[in-house]
Amino acid sequence: MSKQAIGIFDSGVGGTSIWKEIHALLPHEHTMYLADSINAPYGPKGKEAILALSIKNTEYLLSKDCKLIVVACNTATTNAITYLRAQYNVPIIGIEPAIKPAALQTQTHAVGILATKGTLSSALFSKTATLFAKDVTIVEQIGDGIVELIEAGKLHTEAMKLLLKDYLEPMIKANIDYLVLGCTHYPYLMPILLELLPKHVKIIDSGEAVARQTKAVLKEHNLLNNAKAKSKSQFFTNGNPEVMKTLLGNGFNVSYLDF
Ligand code: SIN
Repeated sequence: MSKQAIGIFDSGVGGTSIWKEIHALLPHEHTMYLADSINAPYGPKGKEAILALSIKNTEYLLSKDCKLIVVACNTATTNAITYLRAQYNVPIIGIEPAIKPAALQTQTHAVGILATKGTLSSALFSKTATLFAKDVTIVEQIGDGIVELIEAGKLHTEAMKLLLKDYLEPMIKANIDYLVLGCTHYPYLMPILLELLPKHVKIIDSGEAVARQTKAVLKEHNLLNNAKAKSKSQFFTNGNPEVMKTLLGNGFNVSYLDF
């Protein structure tokens, strides 16, 4: 049993979609969320830069005594998790695009994936795709510009709709029946995606799976907080706190932190 917080980081506000899943499944766990918005997006950066930022975020959360780290960023996971796991002595959970369930369930044998350049070009993504989707056409699309708009608080805008329309067109032409969201910012696009995609296309992301994995790993390491008291959720960003507050809803407090 441990009352220490679960540390969660992302390149920005997108990982709050993962925090919501974790908080829903583990409401008694204290959490500390770190948004490195000033360095967003991680997607177009090189592996070395992504690694350095992931180390900085992890070390900050460990300095606050977090018991487990969730890398709530596909780009950071696919480029840095192997290093982080080897380097630090706490359990580290990552998030990867849900290409395996999509490839196993597709009826049209065509799956779309929207993710960052950093994720799609990573060795980890290509290993998963080769292993589980060799008989499936994967229509890859780099989501250039999406993270920037979300970080700027321009989620529900015409600019976002136009961008997504453009990105989805080749997927619709290829007759996909699954769209994999390979970036933790993207679950916030759901209302627009549902409007733009044909009704039969299912949209999947890995948020719920990450929450389940977090619970299982905490249990395995005897780190679950079994106290049934109200938990403390702390949110820090080196960007604009208002953007995160809007995404979180429910009046959560978000603090600016120069890290
Ligand atoms: C980014 O920072 O470019 C996106 C974060 C992610 O891959 O989840």
